[in-house]
Amino acid sequence: MALSLRLIAPSDFPKLYALDQACFAPGIAWSKAELQYFLKYPGNIGVLVEDETGRLAGFAIAGKQRRQGAVFGRLITIDVDAALRRRGIGHRLLEETETQLRAQGATAVLLEVAVDNTTAQSFYERHGFIRTGRIPGYYLGRIDALVMEKPL
Ligand SMILES: CC(C)(COP(=O)(O)OP(=O)(O)OC[C@H]1O[C@@H](n2cnc3c(N)ncnc32)[C@H](O)[C@@H]1OP(=O)(O)O)[C@@H](O)C(=O)NCCC(=O)NCCS
Repeated sequence: MALSLRLIAPSDFPKLYALDQACFAPGIAWSKAELQYFLKYPGNIGVLVEDETGRLAGFAIAGKQRRQGAVFGRLITIDVDAALRRRGIGHRLLEETETQLRAQGATAVLLEVAVDNTTAQSFYERHGFIRTGRIPGYYLGRIDALVMEKPL
């Protein structure tokens, strides 16, 4: 299967929403309005990986924020089709997102991940993220989030 990476286009929305719904439990997956907002927000980065038929394999969205005068990236989501995991697609999406954030002046990237999402934590640790905080009840008011961060 030949996979290619490209920027997200507005017409990709239905596929992205369907994959996000499949990746996360109800209440944790982004709503349509939230996902639209992240995709349309000026300056946000959105990349996807698809096969030669246009079937979506995964996507990532990141934003940028200012902290103490420095620009840092915030990974909003990274989703890979469950049938296509452990093939390096997440790695490809994260690498491209980090490259784009770096090019736009970000000096670090951070994210929140549910304490019970050990798969994603392993993925991020493998890519050099370290835990820098914990937010009680971040998801659904009852599941804590770990904050993970990585210098770029
Ligand atoms: C997290 C996620 C994006 C990883 O995508 P992926 O395409 O499977 O990741 P890769 O194949 O690039 O994995 C790269 C490395 O991450 C680590 N990793 C990935 N999945 C892992 C798992 N289930 N268990 C342990 N380590 C894992 C491994 O070190 C892996 O390298 P290896 O396969 O050579 O051992 C994917 O599991 C996913 O979409 N999960 C559901 C959505 C989600 O939780 N997103 C994160 C939200 S915070």
